[in-house]
Amino acid sequence: MNAVPTLEIHLSDDDLTAALRSDARLGLTSDPKWLPPKWFYDARGSELFEQITELPEYYPTRTERALLERVVGEIARGARAEVLVELGSGSAAKTRLLLTALTTEGPLKTYVPQDVSSSALRAAADEVAAEFPALAVHGVVSDFTETLHNLPRGGRRMIAFLGGTIGNLVPAERAEFLAGIHEVLEPGEQLLIGAGLVTDPAVLVPAYDDAAGVTAEFNRNVLHVLNSRLDADFVPEKFDHIAVWDADNEWIEMRLAATEDMTVRVRELDLTVEFARGEQMRTEISAKFRVDGLQAELTDAGFRTGQVWTDPDDRFALVLAGRV
Ligand code: AVJ
Repeated sequence: MNAVPTLEIHLSDDDLTAALRSDARLGLTSDPKWLPPKWFYDARGSELFEQITELPEYYPTRTERALLERVVGEIARGARAEVLVELGSGSAAKTRLLLTALTTEGPLKTYVPQDVSSSALRAAADEVAAEFPALAVHGVVSDFTETLHNLPRGGRRMIAFLGGTIGNLVPAERAEFLAGIHEVLEPGEQLLIGAGLVTDPAVLVPAYDDAAGVTAEFNRNVLHVLNSRLDADFVPEKFDHIAVWDADNEWIEMRLAATEDMTVRVRELDLTVEFARGEQMRTEISAKFRVDGLQAELTDAGFRTGQVWTDPDDRFALVLAGRV
């Protein structure tokens, strides 16, 4: 009944390569070295992340899904959204829960998934269109931190940013991001955030350092990405995976540690990078939140915080915040 999903591309492969080049040059020439987490997610990295979500130690995905199952009806009735914009939609099963509730308990007409990966987005948009024939599906290929202004207007919108991905941003980036969302929303529109909460480090650390070594492989994947996209010669097996809980910043930090002295060539950047044995390079932060801290960040960005739901173990929160 519905038309074929449309895809709007604000980020070409050339744009992505340019961003990777500048991030890699900046991070690899900094002291200490670092790389942004968004470069984990090529096809192999996305597949490894899907495997992570099935690991016994990695509780966030299943905790968020169970919580969403419990409260999605309330969310749908509270938001009364006509348009659902999902940031960093990936392949997510939780999308179905939201779409079902927003269409049966509310007036949803349009679904706008946004992702940096056009292939993942195309596949997800096609699946949703087949499953929800009454919905208009309009995918946007963009970088969520930069392209909020390209989101369609018209019809009451809810922007969903789930999965705890907000934790990948450092506090200053979060403030800018939340203020940016507030700016594009109209009064009465809503933001739904899924965020991991501060919990026992004995639970947190294994979630990022699993016994089967899948997270280690995911972490090293960023080096495979640099090898293939920037013609670098990293030997990923010569880097150890490290996950530490930073209690001051309340975030998990993933790092790669060089197991020996190494000289790496990044040919596309005409760059030579030296690693000393034991040197650690940061590849991701995954911040965990306290409910009142999250609410304070939202009100600082201009939102009126509405409802907060948490799982029985207080490990994950869903927050529905309204634009005043
Ligand atoms: C997809 C960003 C939410 O931070 O928990 C999983 C990524 N990193 N294991 C997270 C991730 C290591 C994940 N997010």
